[in-house]
Amino acid sequence: MKSTSKLVRFLEDDFYDDLREPTKRDRRIKDSDFFEAKEGVFDTKTIEAIEALKRRKIILDIYWVVSTGKEADVFYAKSPSGEELAVKIYRVHTSKFRRVEIYTIGDRRFNKARSKLKSKWKWASREFKNLTIAWKKGIHVPKPIALYRNIVVMEFIGTDGTPAPQLKDVDNIENPTTVFYSLLNDVKKLYREARLVHSDLSPFNILYHNNLCYIIDMAQGVNINHEYALRFLYRDLYYITNYFMAFLDDLPSVDEIFQEITGISPDPIIKSLVTNH
Ligand SMILES: Nc1ncnc2c1ncn2[C@@H]1O[C@H](COP(=O)(O)OP(=O)(O)O)[C@@H](O)[C@H]1O
Ligand SMILES: [Mg+2]
Repeated sequence: MKSTSKLVRFLEDDFYDDLREPTKRDRRIKDSDFFEAKEGVFDTKTIEAIEALKRRKIILDIYWVVSTGKEADVFYAKSPSGEELAVKIYRVHTSKFRRVEIYTIGDRRFNKARSKLKSKWKWASREFKNLTIAWKKGIHVPKPIALYRNIVVMEFIGTDGTPAPQLKDVDNIENPTTVFYSLLNDVKKLYREARLVHSDLSPFNILYHNNLCYIIDMAQGVNINHEYALRFLYRDLYYITNYFMAFLDDLPSVDEIFQEITGISPDPIIKSLVTNH
């Protein structure tokens, strides 16, 4: 598996060169140019899905790539009424993977990878579902707009096409105490009211916008009854608290925060994802 994913990454390098986040001048990207670029990036099914989103008047068009990840890519789009949107497209069978296929025929490890790819369809719907539950509870997450096959359309967190920075890249927070406690309050609401644990919460999956933390990347969120939910929650809290240590002198301990949210005092098993490394 490891070598397969290495190969994938290797083949992906520079794949998006034509679609990097543009300079201001580039931003007036022409439809025809983009379509050409798009043909190289999306598989036919994804292009079909994008066309369906346009026909349904959910998006006017997709303009540029905001982020390329291992499982999904995020694009900047607009609605017909001019709202800024983020369109997250989970990779199902992109041409990249077809290229990989050639190199891995007969490789038993790839069969596993292939079935894993097919299950990517599920990630979009999980992300949309979790976002919806969280958003309805008033937690700061991007407002979910639409789910179509492997595509999640949501509110764009940012300004004029520039995404808000990930918390990890923010080194100046105006009122860190308020920001920290408001984030903790969201994690608490997520646990108590939405009955979800994010499970991959860290300064990578938080966008800092208008002095607030927006939680993103919800696909791996689990129900609080999941076998590992408490361990994931403890780890989520550990990452957040660690980050805010640079901004605040007087922080409660992770144990205290965990106890305050769940009413449970964390035992070594609950802490095991953190203390093992
Ligand atoms: N709703 C959004 N608004 C603005 N930017 C977003 C939004 N969702 C994702 N992004 C951008 O895309 C990046 C990757 O998104 P994320 O959901 O974390 O996907 P990945 O699975 O690749 O980690 C984010 O760090 C952020 O820069
Ligand atoms: Mg992420």
